[in-house]
Amino acid sequence: MYPLRRNRRLRTNESMRSLVRETIISPNDFIVPLFVVEGKGVKEEIASMPNYYRLSLDNLQKEVKELWKLGLKSVLLFVKVDDKLKDNSGKEALNADGLMQRAIKTVKDAVPEMIVMTDVALDPFSVYGHDGIISEGKVLNDDTNAVLAEMSLSHAIAGADVVAPSDMMDGRIFEIRTLLEDEGFCDTAIMAYSAKYASAFYGPFRDALDSAPVDAKDIPKDKKTYQMDYGNREEAIRETLMDIDEGADIVMVKPGLCYLDIVREIKDAVNVPVAVYQVSGEYAMLKAAAEKGWIDHDAVMLEQVTAIKRAGASMIASYFAKDAVKLIN
Ligand code: PBG
Repeated sequence: MYPLRRNRRLRTNESMRSLVRETIISPNDFIVPLFVVEGKGVKEEIASMPNYYRLSLDNLQKEVKELWKLGLKSVLLFVKVDDKLKDNSGKEALNADGLMQRAIKTVKDAVPEMIVMTDVALDPFSVYGHDGIISEGKVLNDDTNAVLAEMSLSHAIAGADVVAPSDMMDGRIFEIRTLLEDEGFCDTAIMAYSAKYASAFYGPFRDALDSAPVDAKDIPKDKKTYQMDYGNREEAIRETLMDIDEGADIVMVKPGLCYLDIVREIKDAVNVPVAVYQVSGEYAMLKAAAEKGWIDHDAVMLEQVTAIKRAGASMIASYFAKDAVKLIN
């Protein structure tokens, strides 16, 4: 008699399928990125990110309460900085009363148990739109690290649970970890953007924060001297292992969908949680296709986040977090 095995038996109906399903998405899987701006009552839609907004602190407070009710327990904060406050040193990033520091306190006051993660990089604070300090056409590594460490400390003092350096300077995790330990913040975790590729998928994010590299003489036009070349795989492992050696608690691969091979390989190579950032361009593409009526938004969204988790993500930073959780709840 043939066949003895019929794989379709375990697919006969939804009850059976749910019994054998290997990857299940839950609210615990998500980190919600949030864009914060100065002002009161501000909720501005980002042109290239439909249904995603820049929020002033009062609206941030409302938003995190809503997220908490939905079961979302961690947020990743980004700030849009006034042009007047931008320079080449990242000075404003260290302001104890800066927008990021106030945003951290706002979230912690509103929902004390919410995990507050903060972006650590100079681009929103840089007149040149780069993640580090610029000199003679180059992004300085070690000088930038010193500022990133101070910035992380300032976020920790404000109450951040996790600092997330997204800059890709060499050695920054060590610098940050050392300063945090020296200053007594031994419980502040570091989520390192370890395998962060120089990607065209970050376009809408740079619109959201007005943080794109400026087009000027002696200013690098792109971030390719620090973010990774997308042709590379081994380098992602090397970057990630180094960040773990230097003290990273969570490592990240970014962007998401085009890099799931890297996610799986890193997942197999490390024994710390792996985060994946499903970035702004990924969000924009799905929204645009859905707006045209060319694709089923909700179905494709769930398929995508499930694929990211299946590839090995312990957590997913995603602009879809709220939509996805509303669907699965
Ligand atoms: C800043 C930063 C970027 C993103 C997260 N942190 C942009 C960049 O590196 O240019 C991108 C996130 C997204 O596209 O959703 N260092």
